[in-house]
Amino acid sequence: MRIAIAPTQAEGTAIAARVLMERFEQGKALGVATGSTPLGLYDKLREAHAAGEFTLAGSSAYALDEYIGIDADHPQRYRNVLAAELVGEDKTGLKDDDLHTPDGLADSPAQAAADYEQAIAPGVDLQILGIGSDGHIGFNEPGGSLASRTHIGVLTEQTRTDNARFFDNDIDKVPTHCLTQGLATIMSAKKILLLAFGEKKAEAMKQVIEGAVSAFWPGTILQHHPDVTIVLDEAAAAQLQLADYYKTIWESWNK
Ligand code: PGA
Repeated sequence: MRIAIAPTQAEGTAIAARVLMERFEQGKALGVATGSTPLGLYDKLREAHAAGEFTLAGSSAYALDEYIGIDADHPQRYRNVLAAELVGEDKTGLKDDDLHTPDGLADSPAQAAADYEQAIAPGVDLQILGIGSDGHIGFNEPGGSLASRTHIGVLTEQTRTDNARFFDNDIDKVPTHCLTQGLATIMSAKKILLLAFGEKKAEAMKQVIEGAVSAFWPGTILQHHPDVTIVLDEAAAAQLQLADYYKTIWESWNK
């Protein structure tokens, strides 16, 4: 794992944007995440697009997950969130037809999961990830299979509490089920870029970087991936035993 520990979230976001623009092969598939963590990164991609330095025109984008049963026009439907961030010439150049999300409105969510797994099979070049305070990546909650493919997931109480801020702070409005890429699906991406900011992520990042691989902390599966870059701020890195060592390595690679 390549680990960057930045003093602040803003500096971490700038590092993540640089890594993405250097390492994502334009024209290929970009794996995109929702949540608040990548929003600053998407700002940077839009700025770079406006400056003519980056484009997702000709590329495709694949979401990690989607709520099941959320209204088609709900602003928190992940398809709508990602379209608002990325789609259009005034954003990143990504075309709406090239944005792929699991179909949370399908009559058969199981079939929608299988269809999404097939759609993503050609492969993601670079996958952007956030992480839940319970260690989930995508919506792979603790206790699932480390070898899972796209499937129907049930959100934990913790995740629904964390996400209530997007639903008028009312947990009852947060959907209970989702479609999510599985851990094996995420692991099929060629490169992974994980961002984690704030003290709420510190325990999960301790587990992901220094803990044992375990379905209880789903993000720990990334220790088995050969090409992972993790960008943290100091708050998210607060529990790392070898933080100074990771900084030394990062600096020696980025001289
Ligand atoms: P957040 O969510 O970026 O809003 O903290 C991350 C996640 O749940 O994966």
